[in-house]
Formats: sequence, structure tokens, C-alpha cells
Amino acid sequence: MNKRLTIAMPKGRIYEEAAELMKRAGYDLGADLEESRKLILEFPEQNIRVMMAKPMDVVTYVEYGAADLGIAGKDVLLEQDRDVYEVLDLKISPCYVAVAGVPDQPLSRIAPKIATKYPKVASDYFREQGEQIEIIPLNGSIELAPLIGLADRIVDIVSTGRTLKENGLVEYEKITDITSRLIVNPVSYRLKSEEIEHMVTNLSDVMEGIK
Ligand code: PRP
Repeated sequence: MNKRLTIAMPKGRIYEEAAELMKRAGYDLGADLEESRKLILEFPEQNIRVMMAKPMDVVTYVEYGAADLGIAGKDVLLEQDRDVYEVLDLKISPCYVAVAGVPDQPLSRIAPKIATKYPKVASDYFREQGEQIEIIPLNGSIELAPLIGLADRIVDIVSTGRTLKENGLVEYEKITDITSRLIVNPVSYRLKSEEIEHMVTNLSDVMEGIK
């Protein structure tokens, strides 16, 4: 067993929990990886290479085989629908996607505007509800949109609920629960099956309390 694995790790809020899980599974990425500006790090003694990527881009690196594996939120996987294997629910960074807006504001019947960084998830959801909507794509601070009248509702991640609360917004409907997943490039899965299965087992053992 000697093929090196390249792992795309998500920068930002998932990182800490993901790195902690990796460490418990036997892959110590060091304490200050996220603070450093380095984007690729080698860990020869663990036979892995780590890439630091934006959470939304982890799936792209894995799909194209630039990374063998990656850690990505289910939100990103639902939104992007890419050709990767989702092999393990890591059960970290739990949150959910919800529809929110200003309180006591019924949704207008004619194409209400929905601001979101998840246009596919939002469109799929409202289509299932039989509602025609207009998507307003945004990249962040989505909660601004209903506050300044740009949108009637938002579709966004709720974690602690603080952002909604501190901006006087309320949740209308929950769409789906989210956790982070271990994803694998389909070709790597065949060519490096032994190494990948070893890593999956190590991570599963941590999650089941065996390690
Ligand atoms: C996410 C999400 C919400 C917030 C929810 O944004 O889009 O704005 O976190 O978390 P909370 O329920 O704990 O308040 P993020 O901080 O990732 O930044 P963004 O606004 O740039 O998307």
C-alpha cells in the first residue's frame, strides 16, 4: 500500500471540525494549516497531500481528479450534482437549508423573488411546491436581500440561527438537513481502492467510536 492520496480540504468554517476528524483518524495535518497561506501541503510520513480549497470548489477538484478525495458539505453536493462518489457521511458541521424572510410577510403569488447562493436547491424546492419563482443569485450575506427589499425570501444555510435572529428575519420552511461528506473521484476509487478504503475505514472507526 503506497499510492499517495491527495485530499481537498475545505477552507473556512468546516475546516476545523474536518481537520480534527482527520487527526483522530490518524492524519495529523498540523495545527496551523489554515492560518498559513500555503495551498498545497505534503505529509510524506502519512503518504498524503492536502489541498486547501474553497468549500464550493472542493467538488470540482475531486470531479476532475486533481484531488482523489475531498470533504464537502451536502449543500454543495446538492447544488452542484457532480460526478463524484459520496462515500461517507462525516456527520460534522451540521446545519440545514431553509426558506427565510421578514416576519409576517405572505409570499406574493406572482413570481416571488428568492435570493440565494443555492439556485438549484431553491428552484428544485419551489418547483416541488408547485410555485413559480424568480431566483436572485448572490454569493454571500444573503440575509441582506429581504432587508433591503431585493427579495421576498432567501434560501440559505441556518447553523446557529444567529444571523437570522440578529437581522430580524424568521424561518418559514426547512428544506433539508446538511452535514459534511467524504467524496471520492470515481477513477481514483478504482486505481487507489486499497488506500482509499483504508482511509474510509479509519474515518468510519472514529465516527463509530472505535478509534
Ligand atoms: C452562512 C449562511 C448564513 C450563516 C448562518 O454564511 O449563509 O448567512 O452562515 O449561520 P448561523 O445560523 O450560525 O448564523 P457564511 O458565514 O458562511 O458567509 P456568507 O454570508 O458569506 O455566505
